[in-house]
Amino acid sequence: MCGIVGYIGERDTKNILLDGLRKLEYRGYDSAGIAVMNVDGVHVFKEKGRIAALDDHVDHKVAATMGIGHTRWATHGEPTHYNAHPHQSVSERFTLVHNGVIENYEKLKREYLVDAQLQSDTDTEVVVQLIETFVQKGSAVEEAFRHTLSLLHGSYAIALIDNQDSNTIYVGKNKSPLLVGLGNGFNVIASDAMAMIKETDQFVELMDEEIVIVRRDSYVIKNLEGNIQVRAPYTAELDASDIEKGTYPHYMLKEVDEQPAVMRKIIMEYQNEDGDIKLDSSIREAISESDRLYIIACGTSYHAGLVGKQMLEKIAEVPTEVHIASEFSYNMPLLSKNPLFIFISQSGETADSRSVLVHIKKLGHRSLTLTNVGGSTLSREADHTLLLHAGPEIAVASTKAYTAQIAVLSLLAVDTAKAKGITLGFDPIQELSLAAQAMEVLVDQKDIMENIARDYLAVTRNCFFIGRGVDYYVCLEAALKLKEISYIQAEGFAGGELKHGTIALIEEGTPVIAIATQAHVNGSIRSNLKEVASRGAHTCIISMDGLNDASDQIVLPEVHEYLTPLVSVVPMQLLAYYAALHRGCDVDKPRNLAKSVTVE
Ligand code: F6R
Repeated sequence: MCGIVGYIGERDTKNILLDGLRKLEYRGYDSAGIAVMNVDGVHVFKEKGRIAALDDHVDHKVAATMGIGHTRWATHGEPTHYNAHPHQSVSERFTLVHNGVIENYEKLKREYLVDAQLQSDTDTEVVVQLIETFVQKGSAVEEAFRHTLSLLHGSYAIALIDNQDSNTIYVGKNKSPLLVGLGNGFNVIASDAMAMIKETDQFVELMDEEIVIVRRDSYVIKNLEGNIQVRAPYTAELDASDIEKGTYPHYMLKEVDEQPAVMRKIIMEYQNEDGDIKLDSSIREAISESDRLYIIACGTSYHAGLVGKQMLEKIAEVPTEVHIASEFSYNMPLLSKNPLFIFISQSGETADSRSVLVHIKKLGHRSLTLTNVGGSTLSREADHTLLLHAGPEIAVASTKAYTAQIAVLSLLAVDTAKAKGITLGFDPIQELSLAAQAMEVLVDQKDIMENIARDYLAVTRNCFFIGRGVDYYVCLEAALKLKEISYIQAEGFAGGELKHGTIALIEEGTPVIAIATQAHVNGSIRSNLKEVASRGAHTCIISMDGLNDASDQIVLPEVHEYLTPLVSVVPMQLLAYYAALHRGCDVDKPRNLAKSVTVE
């Protein structure tokens, strides 16, 4: 994963790079480093751990007006100081940062670098040593850069500086995201516009296998053959205040609270003057021409896809399959004649999903991406895009993107149903507004969730969530949220499956949390909860108003049966949040994770 930044201009660069890296910490935070160049040469500072540790370590007396930086999520080589980026070539002439994975680095080492004294265990270092090798053999730097990139298999966003040229940053990209930001008298580079939005809102996208020669007052894009490519900049629509925490202690809590507003924003974005849903007619056509939808996603987005399948099948009567991207890539099912692929991805950059997109495009199939990031790779490369309009999601644990995905999928299902002449029997916009109101009620009940988290989750080593039907899908998401930020071993189970094995896990005091929002399974999920309670489980039930018993711990305001996940997930997100707090975990940056998973 990792994130990279760069700056070349007039101002002192250290703080610009450190600020940018802080915004990219969501991409990885195992180690970080910067390299800045001034008349004395290149100064490299790197440190294991977070950007804060790097900031403490940087010599702030060193002034420089150009530099590059990196925050790492380790893939090859442990997260140590010597594996941290930037990496330098043997002579220290070249310094480089890299996001991605070089799959053939061992082969390149054997072929070109048998005698080189490599200083790290990373795949990245091979790249900088290769550039130096080619320059030593007589190539100009740009030529050596392009030649090296043409030898790489895998993904990369790379920035390179040469200690003999203080006016150039060489940048290259394949699969990993990278943008060049344009300023007055300066230019920047970043894995994500958010990192440099304080400096500029004018960005140029790079395509795969392109390089850019970035100078203070110019940028030239070329392909790996050296041919110039012309591309106009675009304005990034990001408000710098969207990416601040404000008065919140954590981004996750802020993002949970933002969910009602996100629902309203989605309604606004997808409603026409007559108050009806308006989706691009080409999306409608793509769905009507398909005979089966294949939803492809990972993690939380996959869980939203499961909810989406229910809506697309039940509301719009379109056969829909949901697949985990990393499984689909290597184990493709038999496809229907006219499939339409729907990619769900908050970041729009997830490598596993992208690999499926590349593959199905080669097979000639059509695609639609639901993403929070316009201009992201999955959005650019699919035939159609539906934006989530959730605003930047910074906390590693996804919350508002999940509910935005479900809301947009509900609109897609409704729009498809209408196009097919199916009578709905409910007003989708009004139901979504009611769900937003219900979410508001729940985010105001934080004290209840905090108490439950303290009682059930403060010291336990495991926790189970049970539900039936769509509640089961929310249980999967609840378990993922809890495990990723509190490190409690948590699992979501279909209520009916307990007796087929899982119930053996129940011991005295095991927390079991049930979700009951569906009338037709209300009785059976309550029976399942009783079964575990009689075996010692510490049980809790979250039910929908109208289906509740007086003793239920949380009662959700009633919403339309298709939209219940939008409300039932909110207490689950808050339980995970407070459990993590009680256990002293880093809520926004859980261990071993990164927000944008750009490696397969
Ligand atoms: C969990 C989480 C991840 C992501 C997954 C896919 O809270 O955030 O499971 O959902 O890595 O990421 P996107 O949606 O960006 O493709």
